[in-house]
Parts: sequence; structure tokens; C-alpha cells
Amino acid sequence: MAVREAWGSRFGFIMATAGFAVGLGNIWRFPYMTGMNGGGAFLLVYLLIVAVIGVPLMMIEVGLGRKAQLSPIAGMATLLGSRTNPWNVIPWMGMTAAVAINAYYVMLIGWIVGYFVMALSGDLNSMPADQLQVAFTTFTTTPGPLVFYTLLSLGVMTLIISRGLGIGLERLARVAMPMLFVLMIVLAIQSMTLPGAKEGLAWFLTPDFSRINATMVLAALGQAFFSLGVGMAAGFAFGGYMHPRESDVPGNIAIVVACDTGVAILAGLVIFPALFAFNIAPDAGPGLLFVTMPQLFGQMPGGVFFGVAFFFLLLLAGITSAIAIFEVIVASLMDGYGVSRAKASLTAGGMWAVLSTLVILGEGPWSGVRAWGLTLFGLIDAVTTNFLLPAGGLALVLYTVVVWKFDGFRDDVNVGAGRLRITGLLRPAVLILIPIAVGLVLLTSLGLIR
Ligand code: PHE
Repeated sequence: MAVREAWGSRFGFIMATAGFAVGLGNIWRFPYMTGMNGGGAFLLVYLLIVAVIGVPLMMIEVGLGRKAQLSPIAGMATLLGSRTNPWNVIPWMGMTAAVAINAYYVMLIGWIVGYFVMALSGDLNSMPADQLQVAFTTFTTTPGPLVFYTLLSLGVMTLIISRGLGIGLERLARVAMPMLFVLMIVLAIQSMTLPGAKEGLAWFLTPDFSRINATMVLAALGQAFFSLGVGMAAGFAFGGYMHPRESDVPGNIAIVVACDTGVAILAGLVIFPALFAFNIAPDAGPGLLFVTMPQLFGQMPGGVFFGVAFFFLLLLAGITSAIAIFEVIVASLMDGYGVSRAKASLTAGGMWAVLSTLVILGEGPWSGVRAWGLTLFGLIDAVTTNFLLPAGGLALVLYTVVVWKFDGFRDDVNVGAGRLRITGLLRPAVLILIPIAVGLVLLTSLGLIR
């Protein structure tokens, strides 16, 4: 019985955390960032950053949460023994990043609902290639239906969260995520067997080292943090729900990272061969997925079914990610201000309703309102991935160096660990490599060094 219980909770943590990590970051953002940053070289740098920087930072974040056994803000104050200690800024930075990213993430969910509806109608797959780009631009810059789909999705999420059903949704994710994985394998095979696909495959998998530069490393770091969910306070919150002694932090994180990275690579294997076969430019930007996939479905037997299934499962993947962030914010409001779950959910949902509507308007009628040439969507994405998430990661590692100390981190995180444990090998990474690398990346993004 006891063993079963423990396994059950371990599985629950993995599914919840993987459900959060695997989302639009893997299937929508990873391919277009890879496309804009030269293919194979970006993939290589991304994988290195995930392994050397992302994994240790995740262990720090989740480990802190598990140690605190509380939600991020209350938990950090407890660990520090004071609410005024400057390190309390860490969860606030994380929550700020999470609130900001979710503001456009729910709009992306609205995009996917729209594409799901178009796929259902059957029109999508028969659209000629040049019209797909037009259709994407029209749909994403016209507020009417998009605001409706976005607010509808947000309303459903608010209802789920206010009833405390986020956990129940994870149960659905347990079925849906493996299905998405299998569907993507089928799509990757279809994509790789298209005429001319080999070139795209080679472009995605062979690094062109001349493409590596500071901007690209910054983009890869931002993508890694975004996808793993590092520096968003979510890892802390998930850790807070883990058993303080009997849960396995390194082992679980390894599984979550493997899922997250696996889905991202799979997305690349679906997109890039098709992209080259259809002669689409890899640097098409955020619309990449939405112009490539319909053409792929258009070429396959049963394409309508595959299109509907793909956008539906993608929708679930996006919703489980957004709901995880939602839950972190709601739990913090409940802990910090003693409000009821219903009130906290309505507050958070109302806030994102306003923010996401602004983001949508900023893509359409207000696209003239720009800062540094960026729309609100572009600005939030740039500020969070280039600045807030790396700054959060830097704060986490500096906290470990200065306060927790490497030995404390290692001993705390190794409690309950299985075969995979933190060893002294990680010491130079935590004490030297990560602070310097993330610090340099941050300076680059501030434009201090070029
Ligand atoms: N890790 C999530 C993804 O890859 C990113 C995310 C960020 C999700 C913020 C929700 C909110 O999709």
C-alpha cells in the first residue's frame, strides 16, 4: 500500500510538471526559434544549455520548494526566516514573468482554438499555400473571433481552477499527452517521407557553427528557460507539493526534462522536413507552425482527422501549461492574502482577460503602438525570455552560491533521490559556469556587451 501511494504521488508530480513543461513552448516556439536561428547549430546550443544550465537550475528551484513545503512567496520568506530579506525578490520575479507570459499564452490558446475550428470545418487543409499565410495574418490581427476564443478558453480555465479541478485535468493530460506524442511520431514519419524532406532534416540536425553568436545563444537560453519553465516560480510551487523526504528530485526532473526535450525535437522533425518540402522560409516567425501544419495535413490520407486531432491535443497541452501557472498564482493569492479559491481565481482570470485582450489588440488595430519596434506580444516575449527568466535563473544560482551553499543544495536535493544524485561534478557548474554564463547572457541582452 505504502509503496503504491508513493509511486502514485511520484507519477502525479511527473505528470503535473511534465504537463506544465510540455506546451506551446515545445511545439509552437521551439521550431520557429530554431528556424530563425539557423537550424542545427541552434539545436546543439539549446541541448547544451538544457543539460548544463537548465537541469541544475530546475533542481535548485524544485529543491527549494520541496524544502519550504509552501507556495513560492510564503516559502521563500520561511526559508530566509524573514519577509524583508532581499532574496525574497526571487519568487516575485518568477511570478511576474509567469503573469506576463501567460498574458500572451492565453492568446496563443485562442489561436489554437481558431485553428481547431478551421480544421473541423475541413477548409484548412485545402487552402493553397499562399493563402495560409494570409489566413494566419488575418486571423491573428482581427480581434473579433480571436478575442472570443481567447476569453472563452480563459473562462473555462477559470472555472476549472476555481473548482479546484486542476488536478483532475492532469488526469486527462495523462491520456492526452502520450496520444500527442504518438500522433507527432506519425506526423514526423509523414513529413520525412515527403519529396525534398531530406534537406530539411539535414538543416535541422547538422550544426552550421558559423551561426553561433551572442544573440543566438541568448535566444537558445531564453527558449530553454521558457520551455522548462525555469524562473517562473512554478518549479518552486510544484516542489512545495512534493513529499519532503520520500520524493526523488533529480530522478523526476530527469524524466520531465527528457519528455520536454523529446517533444521539442519531435516537433522539429515534424516541421523542418515539411518546411523544406513545401519551400517555406524557416525564419517565418511565430506563424511557422500554422502555415506548415495545414499543408502537411493536406498531403496526407485522413488529413482532416489528423488536423483536428493535432490541434485538439495541442490545445490540451497548452491548457495544462497555462493552468499550472494559473494555479501557482491562485495558490499564492490564497496563501498570501487569505482569500477564497473562488475569489483568487476570478481575480487572476479577470487580470488575464484584460491583459490578453490588450495583447490581441496590440497585434491588430493597435499594432502601431510599439516600443523598440515591438508590439505588446513581442515586447512581453522579449522582456521575459531575454531578461526576466535569465535574471530569475541568475538569482536562483547566486542564492545557492551565497546562502544555500553547494553542499547544502546537494544534501537537501539528494534526500530521497534514487540512483541519479547530485555529485561534486556539479560543483564547478553551480559555483562558476552557470553564474558566469547566465550573467554574460544577461549583459548581452541588456546591450552592455556586443
Ligand atoms: N513551459 C511552458 C511551455 O513550454 C511555458 C509556459 C510558460 C506555460 C508560461 C505557461 C505559462 O509551453
